[in-house]
Amino acid sequence: MIVIPFIIILVLLAKYRGKWIRKNNTKLYIASVVVAIVTFILRDKIKILEPFIQGFLGLSFLYIVMFTGALRKKSTLYVSLMSIRREYSIIGFILLSTHAFRYLVEFLIGDRGFEWFGVIPFVIMIPLFITSFMKIRKMMSVKTWNKLQQLAYIVYILIFVHLLLVAENLNRIIYIVLFVPYFILKVIKEYKLYKEKK
Ligand code: HEM
Repeated sequence: MIVIPFIIILVLLAKYRGKWIRKNNTKLYIASVVVAIVTFILRDKIKILEPFIQGFLGLSFLYIVMFTGALRKKSTLYVSLMSIRREYSIIGFILLSTHAFRYLVEFLIGDRGFEWFGVIPFVIMIPLFITSFMKIRKMMSVKTWNKLQQLAYIVYILIFVHLLLVAENLNRIIYIVLFVPYFILKVIKEYKLYKEKK
């Protein structure tokens, strides 16, 4: 449930503080790493950190990154979100690492089963995360970079499956409400682009 207010806040921040986010991106990445490490260390001690550890905040960042790709190119929302998309994808991945490591540790000590639908998208996200940084991106050709980014669609589908499998009742409905319109809009957008190119 908390994902909805998180998404709204992040969209508002993108719209009204986008320039500031871009300008301070390195500081924000460092702050995210600190938050990720601290929340990982304190994961079982402080209840209020639950949204960070459970993946809700990381998911909200990624959801915006994902949904931007389905928006109409000339819409004002698309322009605002596109301007901070890279920053949100990097921060989202860093924050999700806490969640991933928590459950990997629980698996390794034998407290939990292996969460395939969480681990596979997370592993695919690693090269996407690394190549999000401008310095690395510049070392690749546009074609290779674009090809690699296509893997994000597999990530989105697998995350959706992960959420459907692990969430309960209301949250499961919320994930359906969030993801299904994205898949529909994205297919429509791609179909229109394909028609235009023809
Ligand atoms: C790829 C990115 C991932 C995202 C966006 C994500 C997101 C989430 C979210 C939002 C929840 C809470 C669902 C709810 O209760 O409504 C969740 C639960 C869970 N995730 Fe992930 N996750 C990811 C990767 C992983 C990985 C890598 C693992 C394992 C190593 C994992 C293991 C789990 C488990 C075990 C639960 C259920 C926890 C419980 O019993 O309450 N997830 N995930």
